Amino acid sequence: FNVPTPINEPILSYQPGSAERETLKKAIEAARATQVDVPMFIGGEEVRTEKKHPMSPPHDHQHILGYYHEGDAGHVQQAIDAALAAKPEWEELTWEHRASIFLKAADLIAGPYRAKINAATMLGQSKNAFQAEIDSACEIVDFLRFNVSYMTEIYKQQPQSAPGVWNRLEQRPLEGFVFALTPFNFTAIAGNLPTSAAMMGNTIVWKASNTQIYSANVLMEVFKEAGVPDGVINLVHVDGPTAGEVIFNHPEFAGIHFTGSTGVFQHIWKTIGENIHKYKSYPRIVGETGGKDFILAHESADIDALVVGLVRGAFEFQGQKCSACSRAYIPHTIWEEVKEKLTATLKTIKMGPTEDFSNFVNAVIDEKSFDKIAKYIDGAKENAMVELVAGGNYDKSKGYFVEPTVFLSHDPQSTTMVEEIFGPVLTIYVYDANDFDMALEIVDQTSPYALTGAIFSQDRYAASKATKALKNAAGNFYINDKCTGAVVGQQPFGGGRASGTNDKAGSMINLLRWVSPRTIKETF
Ligand code: ALA
Repeated sequence: FNVPTPINEPILSYQPGSAERETLKKAIEAARATQVDVPMFIGGEEVRTEKKHPMSPPHDHQHILGYYHEGDAGHVQQAIDAALAAKPEWEELTWEHRASIFLKAADLIAGPYRAKINAATMLGQSKNAFQAEIDSACEIVDFLRFNVSYMTEIYKQQPQSAPGVWNRLEQRPLEGFVFALTPFNFTAIAGNLPTSAAMMGNTIVWKASNTQIYSANVLMEVFKEAGVPDGVINLVHVDGPTAGEVIFNHPEFAGIHFTGSTGVFQHIWKTIGENIHKYKSYPRIVGETGGKDFILAHESADIDALVVGLVRGAFEFQGQKCSACSRAYIPHTIWEEVKEKLTATLKTIKMGPTEDFSNFVNAVIDEKSFDKIAKYIDGAKENAMVELVAGGNYDKSKGYFVEPTVFLSHDPQSTTMVEEIFGPVLTIYVYDANDFDMALEIVDQTSPYALTGAIFSQDRYAASKATKALKNAAGNFYINDKCTGAVVGQQPFGGGRASGTNDKAGSMINLLRWVSPRTIKETF
């Protein structure tokens, strides 16, 4: 029995006049014209409360897309109970049946739900059409199809047997429930974290980021239509500490699949450590956290390619990718040309709402994030060691808009060179081209993170040297490409150091974290 060999979902172009553009525009209009009432989903039931919160497009904060219902500790407990109640039947279902459900979910997203989920991501998270397409259509579909294929490989792997003996490996799901805690910045990650663990026979309590609930609700619609049984994936809208208090004190807590900030992940890890005696098993802790991702240019770099890498790497989706380039290192011999081309390119970029497809830059996710980014920009403007090269303006009157901003820092350790900002701010350090070794050391030592990084070099020896020297500085390393845009099945994604456990989303490595193998030896 073989599942279809996965191929990456083709990215639609949304060119003016294309059928997909018209369909997407209609889906956006329909979404803007309705107010959705978003419940929690517990044991297959839609659960509503008295506490309702408005959801608005970050680029148009006066418009209301609908309301979500917020729950409390009791709802988290109910979600755990529902997950545990659904577990015996779900784990007994053969993996072929589980595969069928998630392959159907992929087909639904690639087909009938594509416009709806893209529209939800564009309106709810302020992604432009291209960013929504690569995320909430293609990447989710890829996660589902590739993971199903990896899952089949895992179940097929069996140990050797000597004569008179039959050894078997049984890939048991974890004992208990798995908690999926997902971020706002990729609808695909919100889709992947609960489904990858569920696919391996686990049942899930899922808490989406408050700022992604609008598209998470569409995902739940897809999961239901695909046939995910009641109680297998339970979605609660509860504040983080309340959810954590119930989940991390529960004896059946079996693991967490997390993407979010380093601070929250470290707090969770500590809490789990303190509660370790309460659990039946050592919980699996899988997390992808922050980044301070870099682009390093060698003086042999192709400057046009480098500039494209900087602009796309730093400013697509307003720099809110965990992989986004936020620090760059350019040799002094090419800096003037890079600066000229970079500022000229930035002048051609349009910023505005996602409904206008010509806008490259949209709004940042919410006011808290806007204020934090604005503070970093103001701080850099006041720093005598830092010069403003481009942008630097921000305005939250209609939406949370921050101009793509580039700083030149004469200090490789200035605040915006070192700290994660999670916004459209790029800081550049110009190094002495005669001391590439020193540049490598600065890149490696500047940040505690190690998620993504890139070297632009046409000199093969320099590219090779950087690849070796920066071995631990990035879990995803790119040669002559931007440091964002990993594709499932092609560049398994994840980082080390303070950036996470590097369990590579969308890979066999990741799926293996959601099973606990039992070895059975039978002697004849
Ligand atoms: N997987 C996303 C990227 O590589 C985060 O940009």
